[in-house]
Amino acid sequence: MAENRAQEKKKHYITRKESHRIAKENSKSIRYFEKRKHRRVRPEEYVTQMKDENNIVEFEDLHTYFFSDAGTVKAVNGVSFGVPAGSTVGVVGESGCGKSVTSLSLMQLVQAPSGQIVSGSIRFKADMFKLDSHGKKIPVYETQTDENGNTVYKLDSHGKKIIRKNELGGNMYEMETQVVDIAKMPTEAMRTVRGREIAMIFQEPMTSLNPVFTIGNQLDEVGKLHIQGISKKKVKERSIQMLNLVGIADPEGVYKKYPHELSGGMRQRVMIAIALLCNPKLIVADEPTTALDVTIQAQILDLLREIKHKINGSIMLITHDLGVVAEMADYVVVMYAGKVIETGTAEDIFDRPLHPYTIGLQKSKPTVEQESESLYCIPGFVPNPVNMPNYCYFRDRCEKCMKKCSGEYPAMVQVTPTHSVSCYLYEESAQTPPATAETPADKPSAAKKPAASKSTKPKTASAAKKASTAKKPAAGTAEKPAKSVKEETDG
Ligand SMILES: Nc1ncnc2c1ncn2[C@@H]1O[C@H](COP(=O)(O)OP(=O)(O)O)[C@@H](O)[C@H]1O
Ligand code: SF4
Ligand SMILES: [Mg+2]
Repeated sequence: MAENRAQEKKKHYITRKESHRIAKENSKSIRYFEKRKHRRVRPEEYVTQMKDENNIVEFEDLHTYFFSDAGTVKAVNGVSFGVPAGSTVGVVGESGCGKSVTSLSLMQLVQAPSGQIVSGSIRFKADMFKLDSHGKKIPVYETQTDENGNTVYKLDSHGKKIIRKNELGGNMYEMETQVVDIAKMPTEAMRTVRGREIAMIFQEPMTSLNPVFTIGNQLDEVGKLHIQGISKKKVKERSIQMLNLVGIADPEGVYKKYPHELSGGMRQRVMIAIALLCNPKLIVADEPTTALDVTIQAQILDLLREIKHKINGSIMLITHDLGVVAEMADYVVVMYAGKVIETGTAEDIFDRPLHPYTIGLQKSKPTVEQESESLYCIPGFVPNPVNMPNYCYFRDRCEKCMKKCSGEYPAMVQVTPTHSVSCYLYEESAQTPPATAETPADKPSAAKKPAASKSTKPKTASAAKKASTAKKPAAGTAEKPAKSVKEETDG
């Protein structure tokens, strides 16, 4: 026993020489990636095409690493999946499996310099500003018809052309829909996408809100940053309108309050209001209800559903709570140790889970029907993300492990048009051609699946409680109507 412990200790011990080697390698890698990030990137290098036009986001073979003192942490290690427009995709897995790092990669918010997107693509269908030959945005001007019937620009008292205003009260610019690869996009260009096209809601609203500024200040700041040309009055109006939209009873009062004066649920509503300020197409919600108690959780989930419907957008919902996923998601992506191990529609994952890990997760959640006293627990731990083996990462915890499982990491196989799994048990059931861990969304039939059909049966005790109040969204596959050439917000 003592010998075992000594061996285990030795395994985690890094000699001075080893530590020196890691530090040297880290510094070399970080220098390389930082240089790559800060070089001048021409739009041709990051403007690309979607593999499936139904998707709003496509991750393909994404690798995001942290160059730490203990070695390279492969937090996201070859992740591929898509988010169909108008749908909710739930990303589930135990803590530490790379869910947050996947979403932070999408926002270009991975903690640099130690954290870097090493390879892969994150394709996003964005409404981008059209630029002139000098790289400047092209405004849309007010016009009128003169006495000869010609269309001429309207001029202000100083003889300057007047920029047309959009419905948010900001200047209108010419826009075009472009598919951009966020993994290759320069930081400057990303600023026009982050917050405006993709908004993020974090787990703990108190750490995301600034304690020394009022709620109004913080909402207005986002409005002013992203909606260029908006007046002070309009920005305040928009902030209050958003507070109203997220169900805050006294929006004018809350506008003047500080974060500490609000309850947890209200703070999370404020975070959602901030996220909605610029009409984003995609909301990334990273454990949005984990810090809240169960009744508030249900309200926030209802709100997210309602809002998704109102803005006709998509939601990427990250959670470790299967109950939340059962209630909200149209598609589910199961992650384990930085990899996607199973993808499918919500019915696929909840009614016909395939991967032993997904089956274990299902068994380990409490249900109302359950009679046994103790809850099932998947044996063992998530492997150390440094120096991952090349065999199935779940091997040491798997009850169905076979001889083959010690070989190469199992490839993703498509078992039905919507359901894929990375496990040797299903090699034989693979449909041709084998899937490349793409997504359920890559399959047209999946993309057309009506959202309302799933999760009518709540799968957990908490889901059962919530289900009584839950309103289902309408079938959510319609793409957000393409914003016209001229648009609104600014980066
Ligand atoms: N800033 C960081 N530095 C080093 N390792 C990190 C950092 N952030 C996350 N990681 C590692 O990346 C892995 C995935 O983390 P994360 O995406 O936060 O997991 P989760 O699925 O719980 O959201 C974990 O092993 C974590 O330790
Ligand atoms: S590949 Fe083998 S070890 Fe891995 S989950 Fe499947 S059966 Fe278990
Ligand atoms: Mg997380």
